[in-house]
Amino acid sequence: MNRTTVSVLLPPGSASAALVQDVRRGLGSPPLTLPPKWLYDDEGSRLFDEITRLPGYYPTEAEREVLLGRADEIARLSGASTLVELGSGTSDKTHALLHAFRATGQLRRFVPVDVSEATLRQAAEQIATTYDVAVEAVVGDFTLHLGHLPRDDRKLVAFLGGTIGNLYVEERRAFLGALSDSLEPGDVLLLGTDLVKHADRLISAYDDPWGVTDRFVRNGLRVLNRELGADFDVGGFTYVPFWDPHLQRMDLRLRAETPMHVSVPGADLELHLASGEEIRMEISTKFTLEGIREELEAVGLIPVESWADARDDFAVTLARKGT
Ligand code: AVJ
Repeated sequence: MNRTTVSVLLPPGSASAALVQDVRRGLGSPPLTLPPKWLYDDEGSRLFDEITRLPGYYPTEAEREVLLGRADEIARLSGASTLVELGSGTSDKTHALLHAFRATGQLRRFVPVDVSEATLRQAAEQIATTYDVAVEAVVGDFTLHLGHLPRDDRKLVAFLGGTIGNLYVEERRAFLGALSDSLEPGDVLLLGTDLVKHADRLISAYDDPWGVTDRFVRNGLRVLNRELGADFDVGGFTYVPFWDPHLQRMDLRLRAETPMHVSVPGADLELHLASGEEIRMEISTKFTLEGIREELEAVGLIPVESWADARDDFAVTLARKGT
């Protein structure tokens, strides 16, 4: 029996309107910056997938370790019969949870939410046939469409992979607030966060010797060339990743090696880059358990439990919506 539905909340063209707005806002005046979400086109998603298999990139394995070890406990503690996954992608990370829920027999529905319709459809089909759940996939942007999450059932909302670290502080606060508003009292959030650690290990996770991360970040300029008709000389930049100890985040930039003129017709923008000028393409914020707890409590989410892997690299936190 096929019990899969797909709702599309992203009208065609809306992604490019948002890109134009982000480019005008981010590249219109210094400091030059772009929201990380534009790195994840098909090629970017493929490159990120390659990153997750690099020996120095610890977060994926660390989170998997936690989820495999704790999935039963998480399923039981949540008491949920609907599992929502934000930014689900291939839903790889979620199999441990789906397995655990299958054992308890309590899960009725899985709601994966992702901007990529093709990836979502594939994952939805696979999950609907593997597990005995109705799959109600949502093609949407988790920063915009939280209001559409189901409210008729006890739900567990999983936001994994450390993706929350991609959001800027203000965006993160707004996102967590909206997420909390989308929950009913008793619903739970399962949040994956990378943890603060020694700068050397962070740098090796984001500056691999094979240049995969470099290609991933650089691909962001290709996205602008393709989507907005820009003429970035993609090879004229150097990838510059560094750890910002004040803001506790990795800051991934591209530096123009010569003065450059770039036109971005789709955003009606002419860009003049000085030699050495940098564009910040992505941030990856790292957290402390205490910081996570405070941010959750600030939006009415009560931390129940945090689990980390054996090396304390990555944490998964369960929090319950209060009354
Ligand atoms: C997909 C946001 C979790 O921040 O570690 C990896 C993205 N960028 N290497 C991260 C990323 C460069 C990744 N997240």
